[in-house]
Parts: sequence; C-alpha cells; structure tokens
Amino acid sequence: MNHSPFPTPNPDRYTEEEISQLVHTFYAKARKDPSLGPIFEAHVIDWDAHFVQMTNFWSAQLRGTSRFRGAPMPKHIALPELTAELFERWLQLFKQTTEELGNPDLQQHADAVASFIATRLWQGYQMNNYPDRQLVALHTA
Ligand code: HEM
Repeated sequence: MNHSPFPTPNPDRYTEEEISQLVHTFYAKARKDPSLGPIFEAHVIDWDAHFVQMTNFWSAQLRGTSRFRGAPMPKHIALPELTAELFERWLQLFKQTTEELGNPDLQQHADAVASFIATRLWQGYQMNNYPDRQLVALHTA
C-alpha cells in the first residue's frame, strides 16, 4: 500500500527528458535569483556533476529509478544561514518551473514531493543548527 502523500514513482509516467528539463529549467531560474543564486554559486563546485546528481534525484523521486547516491540532509545542514524565506523562494521557483513544463501530472507530483522534502530539510536544518530556537514552520502553499 502506498501511504505517502504523493503518487508512487513510475517510469512510465514521465520521461528522463522531462526530468532533465525540470532540473535545467529550475537551475536557470535559481542561479539568476538574487537570494538563492549566490548560495548555489558559492557551494556548487562542479555544475555538470550537480546536474547529474539532481537529475538522478528527481528521476528517483518521480520515476522510481535508483541511480541517486547522496545525502541531502547533511549537505543542506552544512549550508550557512538558510532560512524559511529561502526555502519558500526555492519552492516558488520550483513550482514556476513545473507549471512551465506543461505536464499537469508531473506538476502535481513534483510539487507535492518538493514541498514534503523542503519541509523535512528545513526541520532538520533547524534542529541541527538552532537546537534552542522554536521551530519555524514553512509555508509551502
Ligand atoms: C533554501 C533552499 C535550498 C538551497 C539554498 C539548496 C542548496 C543546495 C546546494 C548548494 C547543494 C550542493 C551541496 C553540495 O554538493 O555540497 C544542494 C544539493 C542538493 N539539494 Fe538543495 N538546496 C535547497 C533546497 C532543496 C530542496 C527543497 C530539495 C529537494 C526537494 C533539494 C535537493 C537537493 C539534493 C538532492 C542535493 C544533492 C545532495 C547530495 O549530493 O547528496 N534542495 N542544495
């Protein structure tokens, strides 16, 4: 049974080409963004490798492939000065991207996964970096 809040990943629903478009379109926006752009430029050393990593990640989430090898939580915990606003901006750009891709099925699925993971990453970030502060919720709508 599928208890997750989003559909089961399925390789027949979307193509690798769509996943690749998702990643590249998102990063075209994120790198130009005044608040997120400098963070990515400061911390991504090898963009080709990052694109492969992110394509593998989204392919796993949406298509159920198993190429992704990574550890998103510690990598984000290690980034300095992340805030709820930055995560909300990230989600806003992601949702603009999925809307532009023009596949409503992918849009709904990817947006749900992104909101879920953003919430988890931000929670983990706060628990590790600000253990004495009250948790700040993310507005994902
Ligand atoms: C404020 C929001 C965010 C910022 C500034 C951010 C920034 C970054 C940066 C700089 C890296 C590269 C880290 C490294 O290689 O050392 C990274 C990796 C990654 N990010 Fe984010 N990110 C954000 C939110 C998200 C969200 C919401 C997701 C998923 C829905 C996500 C998924 C990933 C994944 C899968 C990786 C690769 C992790 C790995 O290599 O193990 N990120 N992110």
